[in-house]
Amino acid sequence: MTFPRRAILCSRNAHKARELEALLPGWEIAPLDRDDYPDETGATYVENARIKAEFGHAAAPGEWILAEDSGIEVDALGGRPGVQSARYAPEGAHAIAKLLGELGDTEDRCACYVSELVALLPDGEEVRGTGILEGRISHEPRGSGGFGYDPVFVPDGEERTVAELGDEWKARNSHRARAARALLAALAGALLLAGCGGGHPNGQRQLSAFFKDTRLGRRWAPRFPHKPGSRPCVAYDDTVSQLVPATCSTDVAVQQQGRVLATFTVSWNHGNRVRAWFVFLHDDGTVESVTREGEVPAASTTTS
Ligand code: IMP
Repeated sequence: MTFPRRAILCSRNAHKARELEALLPGWEIAPLDRDDYPDETGATYVENARIKAEFGHAAAPGEWILAEDSGIEVDALGGRPGVQSARYAPEGAHAIAKLLGELGDTEDRCACYVSELVALLPDGEEVRGTGILEGRISHEPRGSGGFGYDPVFVPDGEERTVAELGDEWKARNSHRARAARALLAALAGALLLAGCGGGHPNGQRQLSAFFKDTRLGRRWAPRFPHKPGSRPCVAYDDTVSQLVPATCSTDVAVQQQGRVLATFTVSWNHGNRVRAWFVFLHDDGTVESVTREGEVPAASTTTS
């Protein structure tokens, strides 16, 4: 078993395929083009994602399958539309008008986006990633990026809607981005447990070449340990606008023929703040792709 280069996405939503391809660097995401998708009758996002994934697994045996279910939960509506988001009203202006109409002048406008990603490996093993983006519903739609409820969703810490913040912001911060990073981390664990191994028992050769021969590696060389382990370092904490004591760690999570997954983390505030980079390295240490996890509280990026 190896990390996939190609996965079949069980969704008719073209936005999702485009977003996921940007979120899973190096993967080709091929939408499953069928018009007989089963109804999403699950009571939870995970159940719905699994219904789509199992449909894909039967339709495309031997392939890596990805399925996602997502929605928006509005506190003042008791968490609705939630798992019913896609069926609440036709996506776009209709759904937004209905949501704003239901909310009226309600002061409590807290809401969150939720994304559940399910991957089915060719042997049927399931790996999942969850992502949550907290925010609030604006009083009127603004912006033209994204899709769905993005013109009325203002993420915590921002003044602009997701549609105004745009696709690049979304690729780093959205609920789907968080779920994709959680999925990558879970996959790394699953592949490691499955004994996915190449000829280099600890990935040391790739790490040494990375730190010596690549621009990114030379930039990081003073900061991170050059073999798996941790060392004291400093991090810039933008909530207090200053450098704070931190721990910098290096790990090689997955090894396979010709490629390893190295994980570099900086953590501080007793582990409550973490920045992590997942870096795919070729045998000669060259970088294939980098995925960055932001300073997200653990509860927002749990893998379940
Ligand atoms: P799904 O295809 O069953 O997962 O439906 C997800 C629904 O939730 C979409 O039709 C949108 O209404 C909403 N939604 C999910 N993710 C997003 C997003 O990133 N932006 C805006 N709306 C979203």
